[in-house]
Formats: sequence, structure tokens, C-alpha cells
Amino acid sequence: MKLNRLLIERIDHRILVGTLAFLAIMVLLGWIWINENGRMAAFDRQYLARSIERGAALYAANCSSCHGVDGLGAVGRAPALNSPYLFGHDFLAEIDTELTVLNAERPTAELNGLTERVTEIDARIAELTTERDALIAQMGPAVNIGYDPDSPSRTQRMGWTATLRSLVLTTLVAGRPTSGNYWPQPMASWSQSTGASLRTDQLEDLTNFILNWDKGSNWTLDDLNSVRQFPIYPIDPSTVTIVEGDPRIGATTEIAAVMEGLAMVTGDPQNGQTLYNSAVLGCTGCHANAAVAPLVEGTWTRVTNERLTLPEFAGYTGEQYLAESIIHPNDYTVPTYASGVMPANFGDRLSYQELADMIEYLKTQDQ
Ligand code: HEC
Ligand code: HEC
Repeated sequence: MKLNRLLIERIDHRILVGTLAFLAIMVLLGWIWINENGRMAAFDRQYLARSIERGAALYAANCSSCHGVDGLGAVGRAPALNSPYLFGHDFLAEIDTELTVLNAERPTAELNGLTERVTEIDARIAELTTERDALIAQMGPAVNIGYDPDSPSRTQRMGWTATLRSLVLTTLVAGRPTSGNYWPQPMASWSQSTGASLRTDQLEDLTNFILNWDKGSNWTLDDLNSVRQFPIYPIDPSTVTIVEGDPRIGATTEIAAVMEGLAMVTGDPQNGQTLYNSAVLGCTGCHANAAVAPLVEGTWTRVTNERLTLPEFAGYTGEQYLAESIIHPNDYTVPTYASGVMPANFGDRLSYQELADMIEYLKTQDQ
């Protein structure tokens, strides 16, 4: 008699049953695996959402006084974090890419005598340039407070090559100790590792909260123009030189002689604005921050309504007051500001034309 009688006698039936059982197990495992992935993703999402929520609470308690409740920055205190600039959104990218391609193609087309194509390229370049200028004009409010459309990324401008996440986290851990040189209070370290109040997981929650402001490709010009304060780039006055050309005024030239020189030229306010906002002169670096220097906005109103009524400026014109403020900043110090902060060497750096341009620009600040 057979001891171990087989349940399924025929060998081919046994193979079939075995195969089916194997397949059933694989399907079951696959099903579990798929669900597990979904479950893990949902878990990650929930984890991130909770971290962002905790970060929001920490931000409101510790950061909003300087960076603004909405992250748009506070004038003269700290730069915006909820800003296309921090996330490096380039509003001109599409136009600039097309311009680069066209400018690269043009010489070849010309060389090959493709006159029709060259005309087409030129027309398109003109069209794109107009579009570009119109877009920049719409950025006016941001440009007026120091935004440079041609340098749209904070990390690039800082020379930071790692991720934005690491920039934020590093800033929270280490602070920016030297930023007190150009802000009323520096960005401090927040890490317990330096004796401050927050744990590493809390710094990560804050980082997740800040990075959650990123709108990717959906940043708008309204977002840009709502920024209240952009980062400041301190300049080292000794490294500044301006393009050679006309002779410089000279830092020690008497104000009467400066005025005679100015009478020979006609100022262009547009170029004055460009010069004023240029990194090379750095006027905006100080004058967009009321804590450091009088705001550029309203300069002309203040000059005519306040400065010129002072006895020491009896007989002055507004233009003369501005010229003296720029060439001999230490002759008069605007109340509550420190003297000696504004560089006294602009006379050595500016030509009469450039000074006239900037005075014309400052005269438009009459709101
Ligand atoms: C006393 C005011 C103050 C407080 C409070 C403050 N910050 Fe700052 N923060 C600054 C200043 C000023 C800067 C600009 C530093 C610089 O120019 O390098 C800055 C820079 C930063 C930056 C880098 C932004 C950039 O563009 O480089 C981040 C991120 C940041 N702060 C996050 C925080 C967070 C999060 C908190 C709360 C835990 C906080 N800050 C609290 C003043 C402050
Ligand atoms: C390093 C910071 C700094 C830079 C850069 C700077 N300024 Fe000033 N500026 C100040 C300060 C501070 C004051 C107020 C104290 C004083 O009167 O000297 C001032 C005052 C002025 C005033 C007088 C304003 C008023 O309300 O009466 C004018 C005009 C002016 N600056 C123009 C300029 C121009 C133009 C440039 C660039 C060519 C420039 N500044 C660059 C810091 C700066």
C-alpha cells in the first residue's frame, strides 16, 4: 500500500496547480507592493504637510517681525523670502532664450546670403526686444527698490551653487554674522548647536515652510512687485570705478565750480535712474533701505519742502543741494543718520554728465 498517497495524481495536473499557485502569490505580492508604495507616498505627504504646519507656527513666532507675516520682507529690516527672487524665477528667460538662438543664427544666415532670413530674424529680434522692454517696465516697483531683471536669482548672485534648501538651512544654522554691517540687526543663528533656541528638526520644519512658498513657473509680476524689501548687496567703495570717458568732477572741487560744470550739460533722468540703480555706484544699496539712508522715494519733495527751508541752505537751488549731497556728503548730514556712511569719493568717480543725469532722476522723486 502507498504511504504518502498523492492528492493530485497526474503529473501534468500537478504542474498546472503549482504554476497557478505561484502566479496567484505573485499577483498578491504585487498588489501589496503597489499599495505599499501608495501608502508610503501618502505617508510622506502627510509628514511634509505636518512639518510645514509646525514650520508656519515657528515662523510666525520667531521670524515674522523681520521678514514680514507674509514673507514679503520689511523695509529696512530684512529681505523677502516669499519672493520670486529667492526662488530664482527668471521672468525674461523665454524671451532671452529665443534672442540668444536668433543672435547665434544671424551671422551664419548673413554669411550664406540668406537675406530674407536675415530680415526675418531682425524683425523678430526687434519684436522680442520691445516685449522685453515692456516686461521690464512692468517690473517698475521692484526695480525701484533694487531688483535687477538681468540678475533674477538670489543664489546665483551670491555665487551659491548648492540647493536653495541647503542655503536656507545653512542660514538658519549659522546665521549671517556680518549682515549687521548693512542691516540694523543681523540674521542670527537659530540652532541649539550655537546656543540659540531651535532644535534641528525645528530648523527643518522652518525650511520646509519657506520652500513651500515656491510657485515654480507660476510666479507673477504682481508677486514680484509686492516684495517690500530685496536683499542688499553691500559694496566696498574702494573697489568701485566707473567706465572711463569724460573727465571726472574731482572729490575736492568746490560746489560753486561743480555748479558751473553742471550748467554745461543737460541731464537725462532715464540714464540717471540706470546709474543710480547700478551695482557699480551702489546708491540703491543704501537708499532703498530707510534704516541705512533716506529713501530715494520722495527725495525731491524733501529737498524742496524741508532742506531748502533750513538757514544753512538759504540761496540754494534744489539741484545745488543734491549736487553737494552727492559730491560732498559730509558738508551736511541728514538728521538721525550717521555722517561718514555715504562715500565721499563720488566726485572722483562721476563725470558732470553722470551727476547731471542723477540729479534729473532724483528730481522725478517728487511723490
Ligand atoms: C532681527 C531680524 C531677523 C529675524 C528675527 C530673522 N531674520 Fe532672517 N534675515 C535677517 C536679515 C537682515 C537677513 C539678510 C542677511 C543678509 O543680507 O545676508 C536675513 C536673511 C535670512 C535668510 C536668507 C535670505 C537671503 O536672501 O539670503 C533666510 C532663509 C532667513 N533669514 C530666514 C529666517 C527665519 C526662518 C527666521 C526665524 C527663525 C529669521 N530669518 C529671523 C533678519 C532677521
Ligand atoms: C554706503 C551707503 C550710501 C551710498 C552707497 C550712497 N549713499 Fe547717499 N546717503 C547715505 C546716507 C547715510 C545719507 C544721509 C546722511 C548724510 O546726509 O550724509 C545719504 C544722503 C544722501 C542724499 C541727501 C538726501 C536727503 O534726503 O537730503 C542724497 C541726495 C544722496 N545721498 C544721494 C546718493 C547718490 C546719488 C548715491 C550714489 C551715487 C548715494 N547717495 C550713495 C548713504 C549712502
